[in-house]
Amino acid sequence: TIKIIMDTDPGIDDAAALTMAINDPQIDLALVTSVAGNVTVDKTTKNAQKIVRFFNADVPVAAGAQQPLIKEFEDAARIHGESGMPGYDFPEDLPKPLDMTAVEALHKYIMESDENITLVPTGSYTNIALLFSEYPEVKTKIDRIVAMGGSLGMGNMTSAAEFNVFTDPDAAKIMYQSGVPIVMIGLDITMKALLTPESLTKLEHMNEAGKMLHDIISNDGDKSEAGSAMHDVNTIFYLLHPEAITTKDMWIDVITDGPAIGETVGDIRGAYHDGKTNAKVAVDIDAAAFNKWFLEEVSQIKD
Ligand code: BDR
Ligand code: CA
Repeated sequence: TIKIIMDTDPGIDDAAALTMAINDPQIDLALVTSVAGNVTVDKTTKNAQKIVRFFNADVPVAAGAQQPLIKEFEDAARIHGESGMPGYDFPEDLPKPLDMTAVEALHKYIMESDENITLVPTGSYTNIALLFSEYPEVKTKIDRIVAMGGSLGMGNMTSAAEFNVFTDPDAAKIMYQSGVPIVMIGLDITMKALLTPESLTKLEHMNEAGKMLHDIISNDGDKSEAGSAMHDVNTIFYLLHPEAITTKDMWIDVITDGPAIGETVGDIRGAYHDGKTNAKVAVDIDAAAFNKWFLEEVSQIKD
């Protein structure tokens, strides 16, 4: 099994990623930490708890950063709705979040773990930047970071910037300079592996988890005729099926001001960083395999 910690801002696609991480037997989800992003952190924390509670999973949740390190906070409620996870009535009797901050919980769970951890951030990287600044010793116990965010091509917030990196570019810069191996799961593949309308229809009557995902994904404010981007779910797909995703080693720099703020610049030619690399960047994906896997994963969940 792969032991992971998810740092997340649910969020429709975050909720789907949590669903896979909680239910796939090959993944051991040790901790969930929340961050402000799609909606405010009080809501993303609640939404993470709602998913944990929905599956009666024994996974602790710790609340994280309310705002980015420097930049002003802007949510994405226009895409993910006011609650962040609209369209389904989740149980209201939620477990309590841990009595410590996300940074404290990350430190504790990483240092106390017997095995090394794979960190999976699917929101902005504020908690991770704070963790690395405060407790640099955790780096030796993190195998790799498989992060949704960034783009070599077009952004989805500005022409240059993807939402998670745009939300806290300073944190992204710290993460990319941390020295921990990073897999960048960006828009270059997540906009390619859309969950098709046919797949969405199949989810509805599959089981209760399928119905829940169908109902929230149907409310995706960003969907097109071709389907819905399941951005964050691609991180879990990569963990389980790296063969379906092509990556390229390169150096990623993050722009922290000006018109390209939040852009992830890949040194594709190895010209600027002398051939040195700090990330594996996902550049291609088998979209049909992603859809097939998504449906299989959900179909295996017992009511
Ligand atoms: C990212 O932004 C968020 O809205 C999604 O949850 C995903 O993490 C995509 O740009
Ligand atoms: Ca997210």
